[in-house]
Amino acid sequence: MSLFRRDKQYQPSEQIADYTIEKTIGEGRFGICYLVSDGQKSYIFKQLKRGMLKKAGAKARYEEEILRSLQHESVPRFIKKIEREDFYGYVLEFKEGRTFEDIIYIDKHVFEREEIYIVGRQLVEILKYLHSKSIVHRDIRVPNTLYDGQKVNLVDFGLARWINNEKYRADMDFAFLGDFLLHLYYSSFELKGGKKRPWYDELQLHQVERLFLKRLMGVEQRYSSIFEVELEFYKTFEAWK
Ligand SMILES: Nc1ncnc2c1ncn2[C@@H]1O[C@H](COP(=O)(O)OP(=O)(O)OP(=O)(O)O)[C@@H](O)[C@H]1O
Ligand SMILES: [Mg+2]
Repeated sequence: MSLFRRDKQYQPSEQIADYTIEKTIGEGRFGICYLVSDGQKSYIFKQLKRGMLKKAGAKARYEEEILRSLQHESVPRFIKKIEREDFYGYVLEFKEGRTFEDIIYIDKHVFEREEIYIVGRQLVEILKYLHSKSIVHRDIRVPNTLYDGQKVNLVDFGLARWINNEKYRADMDFAFLGDFLLHLYYSSFELKGGKKRPWYDELQLHQVERLFLKRLMGVEQRYSSIFEVELEFYKTFEAWK
């Protein structure tokens, strides 16, 4: 096998197993994501790059292993693995919604506190489920979260790992959650002259909100578990209701 062998990139209407490619959704470090159809339903195909598979070794298998172990309405189901000469990847349940990245930066949607609460609550719920299964996601970011105006879905388990309390700790997800929420807060932010200041100075936050976010981000004392995060989340958002 040549070192330079490329992964085949599939084009619309091409066939892989029983699925027809509809379009490419995105290309990341590890693979290419396609929207496919079996003639009745849409699915996601995640094609893993062989070079990356080799380099990553066993790590590349975690996404499959972890997704197979999950059953949650906001996480895509693992349908099956497809392994062939020119294709290695898997079929996932298609989840509805646009990424928060597109909603914020393309649609320019402004998230008010009430909606931040609706979104945050769901992410806390998903994290409670993942952490109870000993899984840390490690990549909760605007391109990996989908939203249809009501329901939030979490995708991309490429960096997810089994929690071992050493290298992989549950609290890694708290900083991601904090950073994610800041993206929502910044959707309504306009810099009015002056110079840029840290988020906790320039965003108009309620005192309890600021402390909650600082603790998530690890600027102030870190939360010890998702249960503590949940408790503080509700307290924080109850405070100004
Ligand atoms: N199950 C799904 N349902 C709907 N859309 C999905 C699903 N999985 C992925 N997507 C879309 O495809 C995009 C890319 O998928 P994903 O984030 O899993 O891979 P990636 O970021 O390219 O890979 P990696 O993080 O491994 O480099 C996501 O941003 C999302 O828009
Ligand atoms: Mg991604």
